[in-house]
Amino acid sequence: MANKFIVINGPNLNMLGTRETSIYGSLTLDEIAKYTEKRLVELGQKVELEWFQSNSESALIQKIQSLVNSDIKALIINPAAYSHTSVAILDALKMLPMPIVEVHLSNTHHRESFRQVKLTAKASTIIMEGLGKNAYLMAILAQLYKEESL
Ligand code: DQA
Repeated sequence: MANKFIVINGPNLNMLGTRETSIYGSLTLDEIAKYTEKRLVELGQKVELEWFQSNSESALIQKIQSLVNSDIKALIINPAAYSHTSVAILDALKMLPMPIVEVHLSNTHHRESFRQVKLTAKASTIIMEGLGKNAYLMAILAQLYKEESL
């Protein structure tokens, strides 16, 4: 049976494709999801993905809490702006038994100083930034390769 991973996306990532395209690129989140799944199949990786996006901190926390007793093997999360502000999301992430990979499409170190603070990253095992549309693909592969090497 394929491993199940979940990919959670925070606020404003539903606007990918129109939002600040010089930073985030021209693909929508749905197009990035389809691209990610297609590349994983081409690479022969058997991993089942669930995708979730919300602009609401509360909905994100509910979703994270629902993973506590689930069969999800890893969480890939782009908390977006909540990465820089949300102790509540950090606390929810700290309850999870599975590994967490935090991703950001942009390299936040090239951007405003407030983006360098990542409260949520404290709960993650891997952090990846600056890979654009490949962010989720590389995060999933990083987790799969890490498991292999353990
Ligand atoms: C982001 C970076 C955050 O600083 C920003 O608030 C986002 C997207 C990224 O994917 O590069 O919404 O997480």
